[in-house]
Amino acid sequence: MKVPLLDVPAQNAGLKNELMEAFEGVLDSGYFILGPEVEAFEEEAASYLGTAHAIGVSSGTDALIVALMAAGVTAGDEVICPSFTFFATAGSIMRIGAVPVFVDSDEESFNLDLRGADDLVNERTKAIVPVHLFGRCAAMGKVKAFARKHSLVVIEDTAQSLGASICSKKCGTMGDFGTYSFFPSKNLGGFGDAGLVSCDDDERAEAVKRLRNHGMFPKYYHSEVGGNFRIDALQAALLRKKLPHLDSYGRGRAENAAYYLAEFAELDSSRVTLPLSGGADDGVIWNQFTMKVHGERDALKAHLLENDVGCEIYYPVPLHKQECFNQLPETKLPVAEKLAQEVLSIPVYAELGDERRERVAKVVNSFFKS
Ligand SMILES: Cc1ncc(COP(=O)(O)O)c(C=O)c1O
Repeated sequence: MKVPLLDVPAQNAGLKNELMEAFEGVLDSGYFILGPEVEAFEEEAASYLGTAHAIGVSSGTDALIVALMAAGVTAGDEVICPSFTFFATAGSIMRIGAVPVFVDSDEESFNLDLRGADDLVNERTKAIVPVHLFGRCAAMGKVKAFARKHSLVVIEDTAQSLGASICSKKCGTMGDFGTYSFFPSKNLGGFGDAGLVSCDDDERAEAVKRLRNHGMFPKYYHSEVGGNFRIDALQAALLRKKLPHLDSYGRGRAENAAYYLAEFAELDSSRVTLPLSGGADDGVIWNQFTMKVHGERDALKAHLLENDVGCEIYYPVPLHKQECFNQLPETKLPVAEKLAQEVLSIPVYAELGDERRERVAKVVNSFFKS
């Protein structure tokens, strides 16, 4: 039996009629960029998140760029972010001419670790971008205390963690801005590229809306330079059909994660470390099920692939080691470097089903028991 790492068609198949109806609605309306579907989606997303504003944009990357711009981060400013994350977190900072200042990660949660980070702050430091990696909320109490102490804007990169919450407060809504991605493999998968920015502050929301449309206000007047970061009406119309199911997708992922945690509980902890447990209400939405394999990660990956079980290394190179950041001051981040050597993610999507997850567990167990 083949178990792919992702199965995007499976999730959408159950909603095919509704999605086709939404598609036809947009097709017939001729309204393809922003407009009523986008406004309706933004209202529904804001209500789901419990924020005053949710603003649709063209991708999770552009959500970061536009939030940084709306936060007033400009060329030469410094922004603190983790090194162990997807490239877009730091790429977006660099794209607006600012400088990413990398911090190390916590070995257990994979999220940023701010111990020692006070020393990285100077008069150019303007913002911090915590990433809620793999579906797990970063330690936002600590992030907010750090940001308060140093007067930094907090932009939560929630691309991988939409739907998680802590004490009923949704991940992405605890800082000044939350940014989200609807890349098809994300918790709320879109139909191409799309993203969202959330915030509570009216002025900041207006700034995001202006900046996503070339900084234009009123029409054809530009007092600032933005970009084309607009969301398509089609994405919004289709995402409106999936948003009501987001929590059930999260429950499906959590069930699969709980199953793996039970199946792998007896494995030798000197060979493999399992992810921390947790559910959506404790800030974990299981965008990935990521194990740390000590010394034999690549062998386990080869074993899974030989047995037709999809898996992936998210991420093999921490960002402070990426060639494009060579000009930044050299830094040593031992945990991020170690994680990059040890992590391996296995399929955890809601539509996995009993047979496929049993197969994954059997193949993983056979590696460690041989
Ligand atoms: C942590 C993180 N930030 C940002 C992004 C960028 O999102 P997008 O691919 O929608 O631009 C991603 C998506 O892969 C991500 O995982």
